[in-house]
Amino acid sequence: MSIEIRNHGRVGAEILGVDIGGNLTADEFEAIRSAFVQHGVVFFRDQLLSEEQHIGFARRWGTININRFFAAHPTYPEIALVLKAPDQRDNIGGGWHTDHSYDAEPALGSVLVARELPPVGGATAFASMYDAYEALPARLRIRIEGRRAVHSARHVFGSKPREEIRDSDTRAGRIGNSAVADVLEDVVHPIVLRHPLSGKQAIYVNPAFTIGIEGLDEEESRDLLAEIYAHCQNPGFIEDFHWREGSVAFWDNRATWHFARNDYPGYAREMHRITIEGAALD
Ligand SMILES: [Fe+2]
Repeated sequence: MSIEIRNHGRVGAEILGVDIGGNLTADEFEAIRSAFVQHGVVFFRDQLLSEEQHIGFARRWGTININRFFAAHPTYPEIALVLKAPDQRDNIGGGWHTDHSYDAEPALGSVLVARELPPVGGATAFASMYDAYEALPARLRIRIEGRRAVHSARHVFGSKPREEIRDSDTRAGRIGNSAVADVLEDVVHPIVLRHPLSGKQAIYVNPAFTIGIEGLDEEESRDLLAEIYAHCQNPGFIEDFHWREGSVAFWDNRATWHFARNDYPGYAREMHRITIEGAALD
């Protein structure tokens, strides 16, 4: 079996000819690493991983972060459950975001495995923040140069979430531990980061967890963030990944946004997520 890397439309790379549940050779590991660093997300098909194999693959990339807010797998605490039941209206991750930007050392990324899928729909969209940065209009680039943004999880996972989250039914049995979110300190990251692995620049603010821009008043901050977000949602930087049984995605939170599409009412969707620790950003 020889490994093959193909572009996945506008965002990411599909990696064929490798069994990620087995012992990767040094060449295979390097090919996956290099595609991940370059593209910001890599996809695998037909893997049929056991939970132990999922954990084993994730460990190759760093220390596993035990999720504080999502329901955990009953046997494997390393695995966070991303669930939607047939009778639930809202899903987890149903808006553009990047995971863990509210941490001082945001997670490197996650390995997501499909366990139960709806017959149609339920794709995950990815947006390249490398491409979004490269295509920034000069006038917007100048306004964000050197600026830093504030990130928080309190308004999402805390005991007093903002209105649209309070009214959502994602919490019952799926999201908890609000007391931990309530005492999280806000953190600050550059709006444009220098990626720790690729050295490339990428936009690092997101509509879910970024709450403001340092040094700007509330209105200026909101307006500038809205402009950045509108730019980042240009369809030219976005691609959907359509899950099948055996599909696996491994994304980099520092180079991509993602969005779980919620277009399968009446059906269950169950995904297993393992998140890998990252580093401070500059
Ligand atoms: Fe997410």
